[in-house]
Amino acid sequence: MEAFTTVSVDLGDRSYPVEIGDGVRHRLALHIPSGCRRAAIVTQANIDVEVDAGCEQVVFTIGDGESHKVLETVETLCRDFATWGLTRNDVVVGVGGGIVTDVAGFAASVYHRGIPVIHVATSLLGQIDAAIGGKTGVNLPEGKNLVGSYWQPLAVLCDTETLSTLPARHLQAGLGELAKYHFLGGGRLDELSLADRVTSSVTIKATAVGADEREGGSRALLNYGHTLAHALEIAGDHALLHGEAVAIGLIYAAEVAQLMGRIDEDRVAEHRRVVGAYDLPLRPPADISFADVAPLFARDKKAVDSTTFILDGPTGPEVVTDVPMDILASAYERLCR
Ligand code: GLY
Repeated sequence: MEAFTTVSVDLGDRSYPVEIGDGVRHRLALHIPSGCRRAAIVTQANIDVEVDAGCEQVVFTIGDGESHKVLETVETLCRDFATWGLTRNDVVVGVGGGIVTDVAGFAASVYHRGIPVIHVATSLLGQIDAAIGGKTGVNLPEGKNLVGSYWQPLAVLCDTETLSTLPARHLQAGLGELAKYHFLGGGRLDELSLADRVTSSVTIKATAVGADEREGGSRALLNYGHTLAHALEIAGDHALLHGEAVAIGLIYAAEVAQLMGRIDEDRVAEHRRVVGAYDLPLRPPADISFADVAPLFARDKKAVDSTTFILDGPTGPEVVTDVPMDILASAYERLCR
């Protein structure tokens, strides 16, 4: 076991460690609560990361892709847990990327009205975002993550060794979420090693969650770039991976901010530089028009009214309400150029 780094998510008696490093998945048994007899390992067939909870364990496999991030999957899992005999003293372990940890966390939060969960995050996106902070949930046809809960894990293990097993496109897409942290206080993350970038991103996220667990205010900034991203994902029937959509959403947010006089051209160029340096898409797929995405902005889960965005400004990104529709349309046109 190599050296590893621990970042704490500080939430009083629900505080927990996020461990980052090569091989930290092998520390899973150390985080299993005493008195726990069984661990339900929730994963996907293509993940192929073995864990040892140090107690009786059974692997429950969910399908791959956003189409499996639905209530039916949670029902199936809970029924399978019950058939196996998982009790409220036992534990669920999510082993995978954001879809797995969102679904496993949600199932854990409702099974027996809530049992402990531990996440072993195997994707870049999971390690720097999805597995941390307790947001769990599934999609509805009407929108992403519209049903869910806040259910903090006992621990998150970000095993950087597993990143090398990711399909290239998925690793690349995770960089879209990483790009977001450049603008949330991360600065020149691109000058760090990948493991250090994960640690820096986890630290930013842990601080945001510790300050505002239920997204009453500042945690919303973690959704930078996500309003268009969610709309693109839905309009394109999830052909874009989440991180790819976030990459485009970051540039869109910068274009909107510039049209509103909040930032200058150099700052927009900085967004393009960061996203471009990660070799991520800079514009939406040609077949998705503004008319396709505009109605979806209102369904975004953080929408207070129909046009709420996180926009950069002189003091950094902040929540901006009442963004005019004509500006949103012009920014989309610029984005597609
Ligand atoms: N992914 C944004 C958050 O966890 O708040």
